[in-house]
Amino acid sequence: MNRNKNKGKEKREKKGIMEYTKRQLVRWDTEHFWHPYTQMRWYSEVRPPIIVEAKGNYLFDIDGKRYLDAVSSIWCITFGHSERRIVRAILEQAKKLQHSTTLGLSNVPAIVLTKKISSLVGLPKVFLAEDGAEAVEVAVKLSLSYSKRSGRKRKVFCTVKNAYHGDTAGAMSVSGKTIFTSEYAELMFDVVELPSVYCFRCPFNRSKVKGERMCSYECVEIARKTIKRNRGKICAVFVEGGVQGAAGIIPFPEGYIKMLREETEKYDMILVVDEVATGFGRTGKLFGFQWEIEKPDIVCLGKGLSGGYLPVSATVVSQKIYEVFDGELWEYKHFFHGHTFTGNPISCASAVENIRIFEEGNVIEKIQDTIHYLQKRVRELLELEYVGDVRGKGFMWGIEIVKRNKESFPRGFMAGWRVALDMWKKGIFIRPLGDVLVVNPPLSIRKSEIDIIVESIKESVTKLKTS
Ligand SMILES: Cc1ncc(COP(=O)(O)O)c(C=O)c1O
Repeated sequence: MNRNKNKGKEKREKKGIMEYTKRQLVRWDTEHFWHPYTQMRWYSEVRPPIIVEAKGNYLFDIDGKRYLDAVSSIWCITFGHSERRIVRAILEQAKKLQHSTTLGLSNVPAIVLTKKISSLVGLPKVFLAEDGAEAVEVAVKLSLSYSKRSGRKRKVFCTVKNAYHGDTAGAMSVSGKTIFTSEYAELMFDVVELPSVYCFRCPFNRSKVKGERMCSYECVEIARKTIKRNRGKICAVFVEGGVQGAAGIIPFPEGYIKMLREETEKYDMILVVDEVATGFGRTGKLFGFQWEIEKPDIVCLGKGLSGGYLPVSATVVSQKIYEVFDGELWEYKHFFHGHTFTGNPISCASAVENIRIFEEGNVIEKIQDTIHYLQKRVRELLELEYVGDVRGKGFMWGIEIVKRNKESFPRGFMAGWRVALDMWKKGIFIRPLGDVLVVNPPLSIRKSEIDIIVESIKESVTKLKTS
């Protein structure tokens, strides 16, 4: 009896799960923890791994099994898990000041972070928030206030079909009417929608060759005309930073963001570039917009801002927008937005250290070789029978599974999840978007690890034949 008790204790300590047993955790996980974007019935049947620690590009579960984090824990890990410098910055800050409000008060990490973000983006004012959706929500509110207060009186927002900008009401509204948002139509305001940029299923794409596009960039021209037609009512145009993420990793056609910059300047509209997913090296430049334009009027940052360590996001704003909020205290013209944890010093300290690594390490130059290798290897997947399209930019890649040509597998077949679960078994963690496999690894991914991901996809996709 006693020997068994000791054995149990040793086992728990070895597994590093504090005082809880695996059995307890598994039970509580399904009984109490309602997971985001997760069908809990499926969850309790599949019992996905419970992660207890992570190092470098790997996650470790409660049984000690290792998983290559091929999606950067939902696209936010930059330099890997347990990065020494970021962890130290967090610990040091936690010992000094864990929190104090930034509503009319300041703290050192928040000040330094706003200064650094402003220099990197090239816009002077930085409003801090906690996650990507809030950074977008702030951009929505600022754009509307700017339009009203500057006498423009335009109240309509413009966005690209299938966009994803987060799941709060304003962020949903400027997102596409998709499976993410359609249930909440009553909460969302109307927008002017620009056509889809999903080349693989675009009616203008005449190419019969996998992975190629043959069109006259009709989507760009239709978008240009739509903006012109609605010039009297659009206050701001929202766009993701060069790649639509949750829509299925869809890169914008070349010149798209440049076109938006030209049109928004011509008609005096605000251009908001949402870099929540694309920022911090994901597309091969520090920010995705830098491929085509010098700067928009507003930039939203999140995810990789803290290297994936703590929740912190930012809305970076031009001087002209900031100025409409300027006034005397009694005028109440200041921006009515802010949360309890806005500018939390520990979160900001993690982001400052992440940015320092970017600044000191010549990171953008160094990642180019990895990007070329990743691109070359994922493109090989086009040869597979069940792969219809491989698309992406930088570290963000989408591999669309099809039954044949452009025909999808039946919905109930869950092709994307079949492949993902098979890859989990082999120790590679991916999370698909429908039948699009997403490969979006940390910037610290090694070539040998890219090989592991690609070979595993090949094997698991080929298996669909027999499953
Ligand atoms: C482009 C974009 N904007 C905003 C968000 C929302 O970010 P968060 O999940 O941190 O609220 C996401 C999330 O995936 C995103 O991809």
